Amino acid sequence: MVDYEELTQQAEALIAGVPHLIANLSNLSALICDTLPDLNWAGFYLLEGEMLVLGPFQGKPACIEIPVSRGVCGAAVREDRPQLVPDVHAFAGHIACDSASRSELVIPMHRNGAVVAVLDLDSPSLARFDEADRDGLETLVRAVEPHLFG
Ligand code: SME
Repeated sequence: MVDYEELTQQAEALIAGVPHLIANLSNLSALICDTLPDLNWAGFYLLEGEMLVLGPFQGKPACIEIPVSRGVCGAAVREDRPQLVPDVHAFAGHIACDSASRSELVIPMHRNGAVVAVLDLDSPSLARFDEADRDGLETLVRAVEPHLFG
């Protein structure tokens, strides 16, 4: 069981006062990947117009552009809420970047209330993520958003 309170404190400490978005997202993806067991991908997509563009991540090379109309990541942006997907094969429109991925969790990120990015986590295990992961990571994202995006 991940201690999300501690992870959130570590995440804030890692990026507080650092005015470099790419460096901060890189370190956050490394921290999350190093802390959460059973992941095969952890990283960020940044919203540019109607397209999500690949940002810093840990894992295999991934899709560079995802239209907001597609994928689990696109759904997180459109609905502006986390997407907890226990079985990616059962999610219509899922985009398979790594065929090993079986479950996924995507959390939207905001600047001044508007979605500007997503945190995307993939696991090779079915139903790897539960509500505690979703709520814990949403809390982490809420805590780091102001540092990242101002
Ligand atoms: N599976 C995602 C695409 C990104 S990869 O998982 C890194 C989706 O359906 O949006």
